[in-house]
Amino acid sequence: MTLSLPSSRIALQAKDNSLEALERAWRRVADEHTMIRRGGRITEVSPTHFRVRGLSDVARLGDMVEHRSRAGIRHGEIVQITPADVLVAPFERSGDAGVGDVVIDLGPFTILPHDSWRGRAIDALARPIDGGPHLAQGDPDEAALITQPPALARQRVGTGFQTGVKVIDIFTPICFGQRLGIFAGSGVGKSTLLAMLAAASAFDTVVVALVGERGREVREFLEDTIGPQCMAKTVAVVSTSDESAMMRRRAPDTAMRVAEHFRLKGDRVLLILDSITRFAHALREVATGTGEPPVARGYPASVFTELPKLLERAGPGAEGSGSITAIISVLIDGDDHNDPVADSVRGILDGHVVLDRAIAEQGRYPPVNPLASISRLAPRAWSDDQRTLVTKLKAMISRFESTRDIRLLGAYQPGADAELDAAVKQVPLIYEAMTQTPRDRASADAFADLARHLKPKERPHVSPQG
Ligand SMILES: Nc1ncnc2c1ncn2[C@@H]1O[C@H](COP(=O)(O)OP(=O)(O)O)[C@@H](O)[C@H]1O
Ligand SMILES: [Mg+2]
Repeated sequence: MTLSLPSSRIALQAKDNSLEALERAWRRVADEHTMIRRGGRITEVSPTHFRVRGLSDVARLGDMVEHRSRAGIRHGEIVQITPADVLVAPFERSGDAGVGDVVIDLGPFTILPHDSWRGRAIDALARPIDGGPHLAQGDPDEAALITQPPALARQRVGTGFQTGVKVIDIFTPICFGQRLGIFAGSGVGKSTLLAMLAAASAFDTVVVALVGERGREVREFLEDTIGPQCMAKTVAVVSTSDESAMMRRRAPDTAMRVAEHFRLKGDRVLLILDSITRFAHALREVATGTGEPPVARGYPASVFTELPKLLERAGPGAEGSGSITAIISVLIDGDDHNDPVADSVRGILDGHVVLDRAIAEQGRYPPVNPLASISRLAPRAWSDDQRTLVTKLKAMISRFESTRDIRLLGAYQPGADAELDAAVKQVPLIYEAMTQTPRDRASADAFADLARHLKPKERPHVSPQG
C-alpha cells in the first residue's frame, strides 16, 4: 500500500528510516505500472519522422512521446521499433527536431472523455479548439470497460428510426447500431447530407469526426449546417487538411473513443466520419513513411487492416449499454467506384448510399441514387406495406431512367405502354417529393409526405394552414 506514495513523501520519510524508504522506492521502480519515464535522444531527423536512440527496450507501438525542442515541448507517436532505435512521427507539422534533443516516452496515449464534452470542438489529441474552457477529464478506469464485447454478447442491431431525410427514410432506412457509407465524388453533397442526418432527433449524442477538410469548411459545417441546436448534443473532433498526417490518423480513433464513452452510459450515439478516404490517406502517409511497401494504388496493406478495426468498434454495445450508429462518407476520387478504399469499406458496412453527380446537376438534392443505394437492414425498418411500395417505386424509377434517352429523342408515344406512362407521370413527382435542403424541416413521416405529394389533387379541401 505504501507503493503509491508520491516520491516527495518518500524523500521526507527517508529521514526517519532511509533503508525502508529506499526499499519502497525500489519497489516503485520495479512495478510496471509506476515505471519511471524513460528518455532517449534524437539521432536522425527527416521531414516527416525522427529516430530516437535509448527507448527501444521500453517503447511500445503507439506510445506517445514528449520531445523537448528549442521551440518548446512537442508531441509525437512511436510508429516503429528496432533494437537500435525507435521511429517517431510528430503530431505538429513543424517538428523543430534537432539531433541530440531529449525525447521522453509517456506510455500509451489515452483520452478520458467526459459527459461535459458535448457542445465542444476538440482536436485529435482531445484538446479544446473552440476557445472554450478547459475540458473536464473522465474516469481513467473506464477504458478497461470498453473492450469490444464478444460477438455473441453484443445486442443485435436495433430497430429502425426516422432520420428526417425523406429519400433515406424511404429507400435506405437505417437501424440503430448500423454502419452506413455515403459514397460520392467531391462537391456532390456528402457533407451536407451528413449534417442533415446529424440532426436526427432519435440520438442522445452525436460525435462528428471531420478529417482532412479545409478549415473554412469545418466552421461552415459546425455553425451553419449542423447549427447551434444540434451542436448542444454534439462533440466535434476536428483535424483539418493542414494538420499532420499523424493528427488526421488519430482523429477518427479519438471520435470513436468519445462515442464509446457515451454508448457505455446507455446513449444512442450517432458517429459521423467525414471522410474515411482522407483518414486512409493519412494512414498511407504515415505507413509509407515507415517504409511499408504499397500494395494497391500506393496504399500499404496496413491501411486495409486499420479501416475494419476502426469500423468494427461501432455498432451495438454489450447488453445494457447503448449503441453507436456510424455514418461515414467515402470520397470516390474522380468518381471511380473501384477505388481500393471504397471497395474495402463497402465490404465492412451494412449499407451504402450512392450520390450521383448527374442528379446534383439536375438540382435534385440530396442527390441520392435510389437504384444504386442499399441498406442491408432496411427490411427491419420497413413495414410489409412499405417494402412492397418501395419495390414498386424502384421499378418505376428504373423504367423511367432506362428510357430517358428514348424520351429525349422524342421517340416516346404515350398510350403504348401503361407502365411507362405511369412512370413518366409519377417519377418526376417522386423526385420532387424527395428534394430537401438543410433548411427544410425534417420529415416526421417520409411515406406520408410522399403520399401527400403524389396525390395532391385528390385531397378534398386543403386548408391554408395545412
Ligand atoms: N441537400 C442540399 N440542398 C441544397 N444544396 C445542396 C445540398 N447538398 C449539397 N448541396 C450543394 O452542393 C455543394 C457541395 O456539397 P458538399 O456537401 O460540401 O459536398 P461534398 O461534401 O460531397 O464535397 C454545397 O455547397 C451545396 O451548394
Ligand atoms: Mg465534404
